Amino acid sequence: MKHKILVTGGAGYIGSHTCIALHQAGYEVVVFDNLSNSSAEAVNRVSQLIDAPIEFIKGDIRDRKALQKVFSEHEFFGVIHFAGLKAVGESVAKPLLYYDNNVSGTITLLDVMSEFSMKRFVFSSSATVYGDPETLPIPENAPRSATNPYGQSKLTVECVLEDLAVADNDWSLVTLRYFNPVGAHSSGIIGEDPNDIPNNLMPFISQVAVGKLEKLSIFGKDYATIDGTGVRDFIHVTDLALGHVAALDYLKEQSGSKEGHSVGFLPINLGTGKGTSVLELVDTFAKVTEQDIPYQFAKRRAGDIASCYASADKAKTLLGWEAKLSIIDMCTDTWRWQSRNPNGYNAS
Ligand code: NAD
Ligand code: UD1
Repeated sequence: MKHKILVTGGAGYIGSHTCIALHQAGYEVVVFDNLSNSSAEAVNRVSQLIDAPIEFIKGDIRDRKALQKVFSEHEFFGVIHFAGLKAVGESVAKPLLYYDNNVSGTITLLDVMSEFSMKRFVFSSSATVYGDPETLPIPENAPRSATNPYGQSKLTVECVLEDLAVADNDWSLVTLRYFNPVGAHSSGIIGEDPNDIPNNLMPFISQVAVGKLEKLSIFGKDYATIDGTGVRDFIHVTDLALGHVAALDYLKEQSGSKEGHSVGFLPINLGTGKGTSVLELVDTFAKVTEQDIPYQFAKRRAGDIASCYASADKAKTLLGWEAKLSIIDMCTDTWRWQSRNPNGYNAS
């Protein structure tokens, strides 16, 4: 029998790619998403790619009744919880929305899971919980802090999960801290489809390349880095998706073992362990796509840090997972998606 997984936020960027990886690994997927930042078309395309139907439920994680209905109709092996809002700037302007959606929504979900004695949870956290890191590469036990409501919402959920693990040792609460997810499925059929003007670097570059935006502004050229621009750990979304499969496989192994069945609160970085500068990414993108990327230097963006890259050892040792795809793959796949779908999931 296939293990069934509830994927909240499964219509979104990372969720849609993870649905494919889960299906390919033999899991059955049920997607629960309110489509506040995504399109049902993404789920259709995933279904087309895997050549199988996907059960999609339109619903909000803050809606207890809707969740209870889902849990009463399905027997899940685990939940992967992607659903959340993620725009840093918007979180500063609308903190209540972010805490309600990301924190209250997660608590409602955990509560309903508890009611149905379903206690395997994989949470989408972020390298943002490391604030301005003291040590590079960043290990999982580095100090945590937040500089904006989005980051604080992730950190708060992490604290909730830690407390829950202490209170009830039946829970497995794998907390995956993503570094900088970029790229798209190699088919070019699904990818990242930001609303409005992108805040993040890779979608901005690809929209410049496709002619939707005129010029990239590079925020800061005087950081203490290889070329003065910010350094990040970019990770291909397909590798990231496989990290989720590895986490579930690990939980499957644990649940089958004699002594332990739960893993408690388990934070794990998902990154490549390698830093790439903004300029290096722009250059690589321009080379592999043979597109011109006009850019100008601008002042530093408030809240940005110089460098951020993961220690990827724990994921390798514990989950047997490591990122395999290169910066070239990330640029090639982003461009395939962007050039074939200049308007994202909106037709024309
Ligand atoms: P995304 O916006 O593409 O996907 C999130 C999905 O959740 C969307 O489909 C949205 O409609 C849905 N959603 C939001 N609120 C919901 C609610 N209340 N009920 C039901 N569905 C809801 O974002 P993504 O890039 O795929 O990110 C997925 C998760 O990973 C998020 O929690 C995000 O904070 C986290 N994360 C993302 C990044 C990144 O760079 N993309 C980095 C670190 C962490
Ligand atoms: C940002 C968020 C982080 C979130 C992550 C994923 C901030 C301060 N941090 O991370 O909380 O988890 O996205 O959603 O917003 N850059 C440019 N020009 C641009 C865009 C970006 O030069 O137009 C630079 C940035 O200054 C940075 C690098 O590119 O040095 C990466 O930026 P971005 O893609 O936004 O990711 P982070 O800032 O790392």
